[in-house]
Amino acid sequence: MKRAYNFNAGPSALPMEVLEKAQSELLDFENTGMSVMELSHRSKEYENVHHTAAQLLRDLLNIPEDYDVLFLQGGASLQFAMIPLNFLDEGKVANYILTGSWSEKALKEAKFIGKTAIAGSTKESNYTFIPDISSLQYNEHDSYVHLTSNNTIFGTQWHTYPSVSHAPLIVDMSSDILSRPLPVKSFDLIYAGAQKNLGPSGVTVVIIRKELLKRNVDHVPTMLRYQTHAEKQSLYNTPPTFGIYMLKEVLQWLKNIGGTEQIAERNQTKANLIYGAIDESEQFYKGHATKESRSLMNVTFTLPTEELTQQFLSEAKEKGFVGLNGHRSVGGCRASIYNGVPVEACEALADFMHSFYQTHR
Ligand SMILES: Cc1ncc(COP(=O)(O)O)c(C=O)c1O
Repeated sequence: MKRAYNFNAGPSALPMEVLEKAQSELLDFENTGMSVMELSHRSKEYENVHHTAAQLLRDLLNIPEDYDVLFLQGGASLQFAMIPLNFLDEGKVANYILTGSWSEKALKEAKFIGKTAIAGSTKESNYTFIPDISSLQYNEHDSYVHLTSNNTIFGTQWHTYPSVSHAPLIVDMSSDILSRPLPVKSFDLIYAGAQKNLGPSGVTVVIIRKELLKRNVDHVPTMLRYQTHAEKQSLYNTPPTFGIYMLKEVLQWLKNIGGTEQIAERNQTKANLIYGAIDESEQFYKGHATKESRSLMNVTFTLPTEELTQQFLSEAKEKGFVGLNGHRSVGGCRASIYNGVPVEACEALADFMHSFYQTHR
């Protein structure tokens, strides 16, 4: 069997060890005579999976006791709506920092619920960089401030987070959670769809400061309240059991290889390989992001002409590289190098980029 060099933006590559473990347990999970997918979500075997996943996440991110860990559904996109539904008070403002299409989408949902503001935006530069923290404009009436830590489509990432004390700081970490150590206490709510660094699609992880759960949310439908899920430890209704099982295995894998410090080093090595190929090409490959704002998860670049870009993508495909097309809204090329992408895949891609450059310069 030959595994593809998988650079998909999400769903994306999972660690081989995790897939093998899931395969070995697929038909008979821990002597139950059934797959984990067939277990009742009220069984002790499943509950053990569920609570172990939450505990592993707590251990890996040093999540303090005054935060809850929730497993929800609906993707990060449902969080775009749940956040203002739960936290945007009448007469107050939801303040968004725009760094790409996903922050725009988050803002769009808040507009359905109430008043919004834009604390900062780099749209004019086509989102090539992360705004200077000192340029951000807050408002005394902010209900919360929202940012996107890694911009999957444009390939930029926050390397220093703003410190916000006048209102809760909420972050969409869908495409870089667990890629590096995380100062959980800098945020009041962290959310991420699982399908990049955490496991398969279908689970959304939310880490929420318990203080935020005390608010009156009588106007919010039951399933859309964070309180509902916190009170029932994410077992209010049937959770995505197989996805949470896979999440647990991915977290166990990360713990086994040394946790977030170790993966941060590995991710830096991978990013250096591909940015190295860009920087050594004398502008043949042109990165979309400015150097200071480069993402260690999504490397975005173009070639001198559209024709060369297409030739690059088609030769790459023939050589077994998958998922290198840029997002349909921006074009060009994108290599997504999440936690599950091995260093060897990045070495192979960097080699291919060097040789394509040598041939077509
Ligand atoms: C940063 C970011 N936020 C939100 C989303 C949307 O996530 P979902 O498809 O889980 O709703 C994505 C998807 O790629 C993303 O990259």
